[in-house]
Amino acid sequence: MEVVICANPKEMAQRSARLIADVLNAKPNAVLGMATGSTPLGLYQELVRMHRAEGLDFSQVTTFNLDEYVGLSPQHEQSYHFFMQQNFFQHVNIPPQNVYIPSGTTSNCRAFCDWYERRIKECGGIDVQILGIGSDGHIAFNEPGSSLMSRTRLKTLAKSTIDDNARFFASRGDVPIYAITMGVGTILEARQCVLLANGGNKARAIAQAVEGPVTSMITASALQLHPSVQVFVDAAAAGELSMREYYQWIQKNKPGAPRMG
Ligand code: F6R
Repeated sequence: MEVVICANPKEMAQRSARLIADVLNAKPNAVLGMATGSTPLGLYQELVRMHRAEGLDFSQVTTFNLDEYVGLSPQHEQSYHFFMQQNFFQHVNIPPQNVYIPSGTTSNCRAFCDWYERRIKECGGIDVQILGIGSDGHIAFNEPGSSLMSRTRLKTLAKSTIDDNARFFASRGDVPIYAITMGVGTILEARQCVLLANGGNKARAIAQAVEGPVTSMITASALQLHPSVQVFVDAAAAGELSMREYYQWIQKNKPGAPRMG
């Protein structure tokens, strides 16, 4: 994993957006894996800015979202369909038919999840997967104990996730308790993963994910098995990383490193 410690969330958003823009410039029809929640908001704002100010083109892009709450329609203000529309899709030029988000209202979960996995493969696989991390170390809604080989499926949310996400709902009782989520195995098949985290409440999860043992109890730790992961964190989220100075040393010396070929 490459750990990039940023001064603040704004720099984190700018650097991660630059990475996505570089992917799109090299491959205009890239397949992007999208995340929701508060963490990627700055990244999406920066991509929208690049689209408007620099002509960053999304016209050939396909997207797959990580997850969706079961029971929420796309019009529900807390659904991830609504979130993506409001915060990203309506501001860029991705063809609507290229947008895939797990269904929160399917009557046949298993068939839907199998179809979702198939669509990812038919579209050529995910080029770069954007990820946030839960305070319990989850990626997507792969809660502690999820198989590291898991695929897209129905998942029961952990109580800590329901507590964390209650801030978006009128009351805790309104938070759905089930979600459809890509599995850890699905995520690990992306060609590149970008993990974002800011704030001190993510410091422990980040340390466990980056420096702890690979364990299904911290599903983000499975990213250690992936050959291409960039971790963008602000100073607060980097707070419990024991190798913090080494990661900064690597970034400082990166420009002078000999070319691999
Ligand atoms: C959202 C998702 C979740 C969030 C995580 C962090 O699509 O997959 O794993 O990334 O719960 O959420 P925030 O960013 O709101 O702290």
